[in-house]
Amino acid sequence: MPETKRFDLPSGASYVWHEDQPIGRGGFSVVYEGEAGDGTRVAVKVIRVVDDGTSNWYTNAKSFGREIDIARRLAKVEVGHLMPLLDNFMPNPQQIVLVMPRADFSLAARLRDAGPLSEIETRLLLLDLMAGVEELAQAFIAHRDIKPLNVLRWRDRWVLADFGISKGLNDSTGSHTWVGHGSQQYWAPELFDAEPASLQSDLYAAGCTALEALMGHSPFPLQGAAHAHRFEIPAIPILADAALDRALRMLLAKNPNGRPEDPRQVRQILSPPTAITDLQKSLQRIVSRSAARAQEAEVLARMSQQSEQNQENGLARWAAIWDDIVELAQHVVPDATAMVQPPNWFLNIGDARLSVSLTSPVKGVGDLIGEISVRHYDHQRVDLLIAGNLRCVVSGGSSSWELLTFSRNDMARGAPRLREPVNGAEGTGVPLSALEDLLLQVDSPKIGMHYPVVQVHRQNLTGEAIVAMFVAEVDALEA
Ligand SMILES: Nc1ncnc2c1ncn2[C@@H]1O[C@H](COP(=O)(O)OP(=O)(O)O)[C@@H](O)[C@H]1O
Ligand SMILES: [Mg+2]
Repeated sequence: MPETKRFDLPSGASYVWHEDQPIGRGGFSVVYEGEAGDGTRVAVKVIRVVDDGTSNWYTNAKSFGREIDIARRLAKVEVGHLMPLLDNFMPNPQQIVLVMPRADFSLAARLRDAGPLSEIETRLLLLDLMAGVEELAQAFIAHRDIKPLNVLRWRDRWVLADFGISKGLNDSTGSHTWVGHGSQQYWAPELFDAEPASLQSDLYAAGCTALEALMGHSPFPLQGAAHAHRFEIPAIPILADAALDRALRMLLAKNPNGRPEDPRQVRQILSPPTAITDLQKSLQRIVSRSAARAQEAEVLARMSQQSEQNQENGLARWAAIWDDIVELAQHVVPDATAMVQPPNWFLNIGDARLSVSLTSPVKGVGDLIGEISVRHYDHQRVDLLIAGNLRCVVSGGSSSWELLTFSRNDMARGAPRLREPVNGAEGTGVPLSALEDLLLQVDSPKIGMHYPVVQVHRQNLTGEAIVAMFVAEVDALEA
């Protein structure tokens, strides 16, 4: 196979590209060094549309048709910050070729080779990105894949490239079919809730990209991206340029409505008169501090909203488990009595009482935690023990309850008791007041003074598991 390919178009244009000189590659394409007939240097993106058995090749082919379609739409607006398409053709049925001006390098390559950008360079990058997003907005297009690999240096500015998954903002179809494309490290929080991409999600990705350029690494992890984008404020370094700090915070607002409505707002903030005094810098700093506080308040509000929602779901799940418990008991002991006085649930059976208390933790050890206790009344004497604990964790929108019991590790034979016995009986649960700390210590894992070397046993919570625990404790007390 010759390493230099040539193609002559009916239009008279001709291109060569050098397959031994790839300058970049993506999932389905390789970009090569090439020249147009008049000797101009070009970049030639060769896209495979052949069924390679690994994915839906038909959809891929359609997507690159879309890339050409988007380029045609962009040709109708004034562009200065978007990589234009010079030509396109199919040299054979397995390939689509896109011809572009040859850019110098990508932002990703720049960061890899020469480290992070300075504040001044980042400000210029952000101005270019905003100009690019604005041009896209004028053509009613969402880019949907803004990231350092798709930002190219060309003619002394940064331009947006790779419209492979872009789409029209008014296109009715296709908004959800493309969820899953693009890199989650640059996904706006709402995209994780299957909201369609928008100008605001492009602005967010541009903010991530600029912050990455400034920090030298992505501000959001790939692992756990959904949680990080929704609830974590990236650590923006302390900047001398307060306007840049403010712009980044505006772009990275969790709520799309909190982001700028129009990229021009960001450009305004970033394009003040060149020489500003210290006094004027102080004014900017006041606003950037306000933006930082607004961002914190937004995250706290989102977290408490989320945890309220989680608690509601968790309580609904718990109510079903409680119904199972009561039904299981009353089926065979019809005079067993149940009482619900949130946050306490009681079941009286003979001389014994099962009670469950639930509370909402404050430290991120679950969304609801609880204590299962067993009381036994025997004439004047009451035995009480904490049989176990509960924890509800919501993930991916569904809540799951786990039953926790604790024991001292064998390694810690000489260690103090797990819990002082109550009226002679020692349970395998812990008081609610101590549960949060204990779980944090066990999960962290720094076991503190009060609970030296504790082991946690977890099982999926069912009504039957609680009843079994209750029966075992009462039998032991009566033995
Ligand atoms: N016009 C160009 N000039 C120079 N390099 C380019 C050009 N277009 C793309 N590249 C390089 O090729 C890489 C992949 O191109 P891209 O269009 O993003 O393909 P994909 O859709 O497969 O991600 C880019 O990250 C960049 O490094
Ligand atoms: Mg790309």
